[in-house]
Amino acid sequence: MPVVYHTVARVGEIQPGELRYVEAGGKGICLANVDGEIVALDNACTHEQASLSDGAITRDRIECPLHGGAFDARSGEPLSYPAVFPVKTYRVEIDGDEIRVGIRT
Ligand code: FES
Repeated sequence: MPVVYHTVARVGEIQPGELRYVEAGGKGICLANVDGEIVALDNACTHEQASLSDGAITRDRIECPLHGGAFDARSGEPLSYPAVFPVKTYRVEIDGDEIRVGIRT
């Protein structure tokens, strides 16, 4: 399946240690700035669908706001209970000052 890149934000709008909700290709995405690297994950927590962009990020660990489950921001792997299933991650490319997220179509 081809990957289509969608512009979702501009470089500099999301500072290190920040999360941001965006939409790309009809999907809700949580953008995160991990020490200067922009990463993208499904916004819905795999536990009970809470909005991860409303959570907190410490270095590369995103903590869900509802029950405190946590995920690795780069891999989407669960790090702490009650999160036990990984959250999907997406490719990110920087094109000029645009942050673009790749969605398979
Ligand atoms: S909804 Fe995220 S840990 Fe429960």
